[in-house]
Amino acid sequence: MTAHQGRARARELCAQYTAADDALGWFEAFYREAREGRTTVPWADLAPNTHLFEWHAQSGFDVRDKRCLTVGCGLGDDAEYLAQHGGRVVAFDIAPTAVAWCRERFPASRVEYVAADLLAPPSDWAQRFDYVFEANTLQVLPADLRRRALQHLAGFLAPHGTLLLVCRGRDASDPPGAMPWPLTREELQDGLGALELVSFGEYEETGDPPVRRFRAVFDRK
Ligand SMILES: C[S@@+](CC[C@H](N)C(=O)[O-])C[C@H]1O[C@@H](n2cnc3c(N)ncnc32)[C@H](O)[C@@H]1O
Repeated sequence: MTAHQGRARARELCAQYTAADDALGWFEAFYREAREGRTTVPWADLAPNTHLFEWHAQSGFDVRDKRCLTVGCGLGDDAEYLAQHGGRVVAFDIAPTAVAWCRERFPASRVEYVAADLLAPPSDWAQRFDYVFEANTLQVLPADLRRRALQHLAGFLAPHGTLLLVCRGRDASDPPGAMPWPLTREELQDGLGALELVSFGEYEETGDPPVRRFRAVFDRK
């Protein structure tokens, strides 16, 4: 089973669940199939996100003792990276199977893995985190849910907290494309209006077709 086939299966399930008015239901179904070896998780590199460690190296950002949140944590490699660098990490995913998989992969982990929904997160997460890392979750949510998701992302940050966000990108004049839907810079900045934009980078990643990626850093004052 190739990543290409996994991506095709993800699109198929996404379309099926969305048609049944359950745009979030396919994640758990997909991870269950993957767990049973019937598909491959195309986004799971089983290594920390390149943008995460590159940005840390470039900026000198230190997570030691910071309260960190990893959004849509998938199989946990980014959360583990932050914990290994001294962060006090909570990592969540909407799919309980993904969360169970993280705990199995990292039985001695210091990360607190939680099944939770970015669109309805625990209320005590409001303004609780010094550092939030989000990669590639917004782009799997349909446009009508993303604004609320962005508001919650901003809401997780404590005063002086930092959000590092990585997603597929497009111009507002480009077609919205297929899931994973690229985001526009304007959508990010409008949705995260409560925060201050610190940096915004654009990257072209090799692939077939190549992927345009945004990496943005926002701070809460
Ligand atoms: C494309 S994957 C990215 C996973 C990981 N962040 C990465 O970059 O490898 C998106 C992840 O977000 C999770 N997810 C989707 N909607 C979510 C929601 N509303 N709340 C929490 N997690 C969600 C999915 O289950 C999936 O693990």
